[in-house]
Amino acid sequence: MKIPERQIEEIRNSADIVDIVSGYVQLRKRGKNFIGLCPFHTEKTPSFTVSNEKQIYNCFGCGNGGNVFKFLMEFKNISFVEAVEELADHLGIKLESESSFNDQNDELEILYELNLFAARFFSDNLLKSSTGEEAREYLKQRNIKLNTQKVFGLGYAIHGWNNLLDAAKENNLNLQKMKQLGLIDTNDRNEFYDKYRGRIIFPIFSPNGRVIAFGGRIFPNQDNVAKYLNSPESPVYSKRRVLYGLFHSKEEIRKFDRAILVEGYMDLISLYQTGIKNVVASSGTSLTEEQVQLLSRFTKNIIVLFDADAAGEKAALRSIEILLKYDFDVKVMTLPKGDDPDSFIIRNGKEKFEELALKAKGFLEYQTQQFEEAGAFEDPIETTKAIRELVKTLAIVNDELKRSILLKSITKKFNLREKLIESELNNYLNQSKARPVQQSVSRTYVQNSNQQLKLSPKQEKENPFERELVRMLYSGALEIIEHIFDNISVETFSNKILKNLAMVASEGYNVNKISPAYLIDQINDEESRKFILKLTLEDRTISKKWDDFSFNGKIDKDTIEYAKDTVRNFLLFQKDLEIEENIKIISESKDERLHIELLKRNKELYEEKNEILSHKPGI
Ligand code: UTP
Ligand code: MN
Repeated sequence: MKIPERQIEEIRNSADIVDIVSGYVQLRKRGKNFIGLCPFHTEKTPSFTVSNEKQIYNCFGCGNGGNVFKFLMEFKNISFVEAVEELADHLGIKLESESSFNDQNDELEILYELNLFAARFFSDNLLKSSTGEEAREYLKQRNIKLNTQKVFGLGYAIHGWNNLLDAAKENNLNLQKMKQLGLIDTNDRNEFYDKYRGRIIFPIFSPNGRVIAFGGRIFPNQDNVAKYLNSPESPVYSKRRVLYGLFHSKEEIRKFDRAILVEGYMDLISLYQTGIKNVVASSGTSLTEEQVQLLSRFTKNIIVLFDADAAGEKAALRSIEILLKYDFDVKVMTLPKGDDPDSFIIRNGKEKFEELALKAKGFLEYQTQQFEEAGAFEDPIETTKAIRELVKTLAIVNDELKRSILLKSITKKFNLREKLIESELNNYLNQSKARPVQQSVSRTYVQNSNQQLKLSPKQEKENPFERELVRMLYSGALEIIEHIFDNISVETFSNKILKNLAMVASEGYNVNKISPAYLIDQINDEESRKFILKLTLEDRTISKKWDDFSFNGKIDKDTIEYAKDTVRNFLLFQKDLEIEENIKIISESKDERLHIELLKRNKELYEEKNEILSHKPGI
């Protein structure tokens, strides 16, 4: 569905971000902003800031920020359209739909529909067709009940090269797009053929329950054929960002405030069917940061449960590191050698599984046990290495209290002096300060921007007033914005990010749209977006009176003066640069005629500079 831009505008203007956010986060007033504990990362002191005046939010801890739409999208893990719908509902605005075929959302809609078509086709094959008998028999052998098959939308891709293809043609579907989704492919004669043949199909759902991809398991097992065939990346599917099963398990995960992480599709389905429903699968080995971030919206407690084989153990250790980075409380559950969660639960049942879950170990204990099993503690040199590894993991834990409790457990276990381990730990902590372990890309960025923006190639020429000007361009104050654009050409900005931001503001100004909440949505570069959110919500004030300024209120005279001063300072700085440059060329030039020209130019430049200066106080 395409919502008319006019209505999005209406909602953006009438929704109050403070009101909406307050529904989910406890906010209190501080200065002109509201602050609270960030819902997107764990923190003890509030760095989540919401501005009533600018209608935007930003967390100075994790860098999550945007307008009211972005907040709902992030908090509820919903799409833009869903966020707009929810706000419309809240505000009592009735949405009209508008059809337009070249819109990007419609593009995605087509892909979703094709996936849904394929999922239905595969499911019908499994549940209804006579040829589906083999597949039904296989799933029966594997203990997957009919109801479970329906819940997870399982399907069957029949043997043969053109089953799905023919159905798609009959329904006039877009074959190129089906190819993009990895459902069909073309051979060297450019003829289409089915990619999934003779496989059990596992549709992969988005957290909202839309089919975004497929995994297909060959059966029976075959040498030289990949066990699973998975969809490629597409506009609707990014493997790094998806956790298999989350759509089905998210409610239970919230309810128990704990998730169990398994590796495979079958593991998840098998546990779910037994009644252990707070499960997600990483679908393969290593967990990604994006997956962990996604999960952290539902819980911060996790039990890692990987296959009891070498690959599983390695994957478990890697996953633990990422989970610790994001402040998860991590436990590890181990299975008898050779088992995976699916095989374990089938043989032992739910109760035995729960017993084992209760015995899940803290991550340090787990890691220690791994070393113990490898015989690391029989040799003093190996022991030292092992302890170092343990301390290294410990250094990833952000919470100081937690860290010191864990540190005590290591010293106790190895009968070591606490000081010794402590100094080892501090080594790692110092190292990680230089290259912060805990910080994701965005946090690192926030830190950088605290100091200074990365400079464009013309480093030394960076105009120090650009930053302040951009800040004012995102203030929503028309009089100030007008003054800036009347006197300054955005083209002359030297810093790439600031220039980009000023361009966006200028385009908005040209169509009479200057509200920060609108402009934010027009910035297509993530780094710039993060930067401006931080800049506009910073505690620092532009002028004494800036605090009192609000959209509808009158702008204080001081504030306008300040803006005019900044514009003038910007222009003076530019002029000085030109003068400097010219003088440099003069000193280098040997040609007499050119020399005279340059001196003339020099005089002009000084005149121009005086011109700017004489326009005091305002240009
Ligand atoms: P496993 O090999 O453990 O498979 O791979 P499984 O899920 O236990 O399946 P069964 O029990 O043998 O039927 C774990 C996960 O790794 C991914 C899949 O997501 C699988 O569920 N995988 C594995 C692939 O993507 N491709 C492969 O070829 C193998
Ligand atoms: Mn298995």
